Amino acid sequence: MKNAVISSTGLWTPPHSISNEELVASYNAWADNWNREREADIASGIIEPKTHSSVEFIEKASGIKSRYVINKSGVIDPDIMAPRIPERPNEEISVLAEMAVNAARQALERAGRKPEDIDAVICAASNMQRAYPAMAIEVQKALGINGFAFDMNVACSSATFGIQTAADFVRSGSARSVLMVNPEVCSGHLNFTDRDSHFIFGDVATAVLVEEESIAPAGHWKILGTKLKTEFSNNIRNNFGFLNRAAPEGIGAPDKLFVQEGRKVFKEVVPMVATMINEHLGELNLQGTDLRRLWLHQANANMNRMISSRVLGREANSDESPTVLDTYANTSSAGSIIAFHKHSEDFKPGDKGLICSFGAGYSAGTVFVEKAG
Ligand code: COA
Repeated sequence: MKNAVISSTGLWTPPHSISNEELVASYNAWADNWNREREADIASGIIEPKTHSSVEFIEKASGIKSRYVINKSGVIDPDIMAPRIPERPNEEISVLAEMAVNAARQALERAGRKPEDIDAVICAASNMQRAYPAMAIEVQKALGINGFAFDMNVACSSATFGIQTAADFVRSGSARSVLMVNPEVCSGHLNFTDRDSHFIFGDVATAVLVEEESIAPAGHWKILGTKLKTEFSNNIRNNFGFLNRAAPEGIGAPDKLFVQEGRKVFKEVVPMVATMINEHLGELNLQGTDLRRLWLHQANANMNRMISSRVLGREANSDESPTVLDTYANTSSAGSIIAFHKHSEDFKPGDKGLICSFGAGYSAGTVFVEKAG
């Protein structure tokens, strides 16, 4: 069996950012309009009025201060409350593929790779632009890569599932260099009129180049072990799908966007992930204290605090468990990769760390890495 490593990563950040203040102002304006239109029913007690969202709540409950988006004007317009991204003709590259290509170019450049060096492309994300042709094949064409390409979706865990899939191709010898991309337009599936979740997500794209050790550039990352886990749960769900047309009465219902039982997710996923990390550490003959850094999925700062303290045996500082939630919010599969990309330059040969994602499914993935000499 061959050894798989991470040769490089890439990140593309959208140009527009929305602060909590801006987001809350638009939500509150939308809620006031909604209440005004239903004044009589609210006064007679038939329906409950919408209450205001709060900047303080969002930051305290999640650690999020702002998020990047592809389209800002639609999201913060109280009459729209959704991104407005014009459809493109089939001859033009799609939005998701374009984002992925931007991140991929950076990963290829950092590893000194040309498109002809790559054998396969995996697009691993929680929402695809369309059913087919695959985003990954579009990215493959845009970059001029030979070989094969396909899409996979494991919600917030897509990137770690993508890394293990790419590593398995390399380990088995069916590919030597695999480009794995995570374009996430989470603003597209977020219900900006839902007070409980309107602040959660942002947009971004990341890329990871997984290669056979013998061809990897200096300063690559050895993959010490990968592990994946899924356990069915209805607590994070999105019922948007191709059969919606077959049940037209449901089209436009809130369940065709992201919905969650946030409290339950928090309570159930923290122990599941902490146990998984500790078991995987044991299988690799490692301990939490051997890890220089945890690049955890970026959904909630309090969740990450609890998971890291169950792994390290004490609360992690911001160097040991860095956050990108404050500026990026939850970017689904891309979150742990952004953290890894932005907070790994200081690693010395032999330093070890963990890339870990978790989310809908439930699903979780652990990728232990060590900086090579
Ligand atoms: N502004 C002000 N108050 C709000 C609010 C908002 N935007 N949203 C909810 N609240 C209120 C609630 O109404 C509730 O009030 P009550 O106690 O009077 O009923 C109170 O704040 C607590 O709400 P709750 O939903 O229990 O908050 P929480 O502390 O669980 O935080 C999340 C909410 C979503 C931030 C948190 O549960 C979370 O991050 N969970 C994990 C999510 C996750 O990882 N999901 C995976 C996504 S891929």
